[in-house]
Amino acid sequence: RILSRLPQPKVADLPQCMEDARTAAMHCKRCGLCEAATQTVWGRGYAQADLMIVGEQPGDGEDLAGKPFVGPAGKLLTELMDEAKVGDSWMTNAVKHFKFRPTGKRRMHQNPDRHEIDHCRWWLDLERRFVQPTLTVALGGSAAYALTGNDAPLKARRGQIETAHDDGAVLVTWHPSYILRLDGSAAATARAELLDDLAAAAEVIR
Ligand code: URA
Repeated sequence: RILSRLPQPKVADLPQCMEDARTAAMHCKRCGLCEAATQTVWGRGYAQADLMIVGEQPGDGEDLAGKPFVGPAGKLLTELMDEAKVGDSWMTNAVKHFKFRPTGKRRMHQNPDRHEIDHCRWWLDLERRFVQPTLTVALGGSAAYALTGNDAPLKARRGQIETAHDDGAVLVTWHPSYILRLDGSAAATARAELLDDLAAAAEVIR
């Protein structure tokens, strides 16, 4: 309700509005994930892009760097985006803090639950009001749930356009981390499907 009363910023004010929102998000305590994570990881890219790419949550590397998609999944995503000739985009996550289980020296990724995704939607919705993308690519189930409220399995949804809470168009596809966990022909097929979806997204916004 508060979000719907916020005026849409003028394009010239966008960088400052985005920066103010990012600064506010650094102090977020809307759920417990802020306690163990290093920092809030805000989106990055071109704030007036027609394309938004939404992942699940920062990983270990992103948590330390304070930037999304800088680790192994981000490297695969960037490679595929280049191959698919995706131009400018705003890249962000459904959840802005790293959720993990400490195991010895390593921090093991844990999927955010629905409650955490719902709380973090405050920030995702705000980013969406600033960027106003023509198309959003949801990478994996958490992003698809955050954007649409639909948490049905991805197998039957991949490559389809769904409607976001704010009526925007959402193309549902695999998360690059999922591809990194697969082997052999299953990995090659999923990689080709993500590439196809990114190429289709690039075509829509061209
Ligand atoms: N996985 C994500 O979903 N987002 C990141 O930023 C990195 C890995």
